[in-house]
Formats: sequence, C-alpha cells, structure tokens
Amino acid sequence: MDVRGKPLWKRMAVDSGGTGRPPALSPAAGLRTALAVLDLGMVGTDSSRRAVPSAGATHPYECYVLTRDDASETGLYQADPGRRTCQLVSRGPQVAEALCQAALALPDGGAVIVLATRPWLSMRKYGDRGYLYTQLDTAHLHMNLVLAADSLGGRVVLRRRPPGLEPLVREHGECAEVHSALAVTALSAGHSPDPGPPGWVVRDARRHSPRQQPHWLERICWESLVTHPEGAAAGHPGAFLHLPMTVRSTGRAPLVPQTAFSRRRSATAFAPGTVETRDVHGTVDRAISVLDAVLPGEAPPYATLVMRQDDDGGDDPAWPAGLTIRWRPGLPDDSVTEAFMAQPHLAGTSAVLLLHAPTASLIDEAGGSGLWTVLFRAGALAQAVYLEAAQRGLSVTGVGGFDSERWKRLAGLPADHDVVYAVAMGVDTPDVPKLDRLAVAYAQNERS
Ligand SMILES: Cc1cc2nc3c(=O)[nH]c(=O)nc-3n(C[C@H](O)[C@H](O)[C@H](O)COP(=O)(O)O)c2cc1C
Repeated sequence: MDVRGKPLWKRMAVDSGGTGRPPALSPAAGLRTALAVLDLGMVGTDSSRRAVPSAGATHPYECYVLTRDDASETGLYQADPGRRTCQLVSRGPQVAEALCQAALALPDGGAVIVLATRPWLSMRKYGDRGYLYTQLDTAHLHMNLVLAADSLGGRVVLRRRPPGLEPLVREHGECAEVHSALAVTALSAGHSPDPGPPGWVVRDARRHSPRQQPHWLERICWESLVTHPEGAAAGHPGAFLHLPMTVRSTGRAPLVPQTAFSRRRSATAFAPGTVETRDVHGTVDRAISVLDAVLPGEAPPYATLVMRQDDDGGDDPAWPAGLTIRWRPGLPDDSVTEAFMAQPHLAGTSAVLLLHAPTASLIDEAGGSGLWTVLFRAGALAQAVYLEAAQRGLSVTGVGGFDSERWKRLAGLPADHDVVYAVAMGVDTPDVPKLDRLAVAYAQNERS
C-alpha cells in the first residue's frame, strides 16, 4: 500500500474495527489440554516474564491451536499468552483437511499446537539480525512446549515446517510463516486440566475479527525476506519438510521436571567468580541428551564450550561427545565484553557455550533448509540448557549480540565456521536492569 499520497494526519488515524464482544465459549477437552501445555511452556507463572526467553523480549511469533469441540468439529484457535485469551477464528472441513496435509492426526482429548513466526516483530528492533532472533526465539518456544507436554504426561508428535497449515495461519497473519507443529495427546491422569475454564477466556471470534491488513512496515520486512520469488513458501529461507518425530513418555520419567519451567530466567548480569565445573558440565551434558531424546538420530549442533577458569579436575566422567572444551582462564573481561558487542553486564560470565556451523551450510543459494535446521537445533539446545541450569541454580542467558569473528579467534573455532548463537553461564548477581528487555509492547489494536 502506498501511503505517501495520504495526508500525514489521516495516516495517523486508527479505528477500533471491533463490532462488540465475541461470545464466550466453554473449552472442550482438547483445547483444555493445549491451554495447560501453553500455561506451562509459554505463559509461565511469573507475570513479569514469559516461560521462554526472547531477544529483546519481542516474542516474534503467534500460536494457534487446532482441536475438536464437543460437536466433533475441528476448529482453529489463536492463543494470546499475554492476555490469556484464545479465539476461535475458523471451523470446518478446511481445518481438518489442513491437518491431513500436515500428516498430523488429532489425538482424542488432545490438540495440535502450531507456531508461526512474525519476523517483523523482531526485525523492527534489530533489522536483518531480527530474522536470526526470530528463528532462535521460536525454536526456544517449540522445544519448551514439547518438554512441557512431556512433563505433563502427554505424548507428542512434532513436525517442523509442516506443509498444509500455511493458508490457515496466513489468513489471520498475512506475513507469518509456519515454523512447527506439535500434536499432544490427552495428559496423564494427575495433570489433566479441570473441566472448568482454565483461567483463559475463550471466545468465538469468527464474526468479530475482521481480517486486518498488515502494517506497511511489516509487509516491507516480509518482502525483504523473499530470496527466491518463484515459489511462495519456498521463497522464504528454509522451506522444508521434516518427517514427524515422536516423543514418547511411556515408562520413563519426564525429560524435564515441571519445577524447572517456573525457575527459568535470563541472568541480567554475572558476578565475577567461578562456578563449579560439574554444574556447567552437567547442564550441557544433560541438555545434549534431552535434545537427542526429542530429535533422535539427528546430529547435535557444533558446540564449543569456553571455560574461563582452570580445569578443576572434578570427578566427572567424560564431557559429552561432540562438545569441544577450551580452557581459557586468562581471558580478560574486556575481550569478552567486546566479543559480546559491548555488553558490559556479560563481562563476568564464567563459561560460554558457542553454537556454530560451517558457513557454507548457512548460505544456501537454492533456498534450502540448512540455515533453518541449524538455527532450530541451536535454539532448541539452548532452551534445554536454560531448563537444566535452572535446576542447578546456574545463572544463564542466551546471547544473540556477539561478534562471530572475535569469538572464533578467542575459542579457536574452525575458520570456515560461523557462530550462530551463544549461551553465557556464570555466577548470579542481584537483578540489574537488562537493557534489551522492555515490556512486550501491545500497540493499541495490535492484531493478536
Ligand atoms: C535469541 C536470543 C538472544 C538474546 N540476546 C541477548 C543479548 O545479546 N544480551 C542479553 O543480555 N540478553 C540476551 N537475551 C536474553 C533476553 O534479553 C531475555 O530473554 C529477555 O530479556 C527476557 O527475559 P527472560 O528470559 O528472563 O524472560 C537473548 C535471548 C534470546 C532468546
């Protein structure tokens, strides 16, 4: 839309677009299952932060739930974790058909949770780097939801970039890209949500949410991502189809206990000092095993752990296979701050997990899946690190503001690799203001 011909004042005008309050619905069993998983894995218990980290707290994604109602009709709901509202936006055979195309079945009493990215929410703050953060943030969330469902006793089938769902979510968010889906069965007995309203407000918004045109800035962001104009979805980086993976909970303890989810937080700074090597070791080791349980048979991301302290020998068994350790006790704070793009609150970090990949695998001129796959695994592993660190009282934060070349030199990484993500670990400090974190801003009339 060309807005330049309009008087500036007219461009600033807004209208509510609403036509009264949509009628309330009573959620059926499948929706209650999904909302219980979202409560644990997305919303969290602390009103000041969500259950997952996000670069600059932008949370650049949308969440949809597909499930059957009491009349056995399949509906598409859009869930807003901030407001704890869930809106029925579509119902009918087209929703069931989309599930078929995605090769996902609706379990009895269960649901399919779909995540769609809205890259501009991060790109408006970080420019092109925001697309990296969008992918990492959404991988964090996807992994957390899989682990939350598992810890509530559900069995999960997960799909990455499934086909068929795009038209459903695009109708409600034109500049959105389907990231992943997970089908979750009814939860085990002790965790099944009460039949009453789960603290969420559920409404039938089919006649009340007129389709909104994306903001022209959002459209420009979206169009800037199209690298291969000949294909629609294939035009965006990483169009890809993955076979379903199943995470079975039968007969084993949850991969992550429920208590870990509410303890998760990002460190706002690190105090100078050293941490127990065994805590870092145990955290990274366990995170790699959890990722392997969720994505069996897939190679974990290349990972190098920089330890800014001497090897204290410990009584630990071997470090996990595939993880490279660099002992760097003399690494000055100034070098760390510079390599973290002048973020002084990260200077005191005791250990840095660098996730990296061959540059060639990240640059796929044919619009393939390399970049997307690397970023998915990096974000998913980092989420497992957060959850394990939370249980050990190890302070941790994901870091997207890093200088890849500097870290390559400091850690002796292969010259033909790039760092895609870093996770800093260390000694906790009392909270200080975290500069990149502002409250998630809801603009008036923001589409949700
Ligand atoms: C992809 C990603 C990149 C991040 N980059 C940084 C960073 O460069 N510096 C930093 O201090 N925190 C960084 N964070 C942490 C966020 O600031 C933090 O998640 C956000 O403020 C919300 O806080 P919470 O995780 O405690 O909920 C990053 C988080 C993610 C997921």
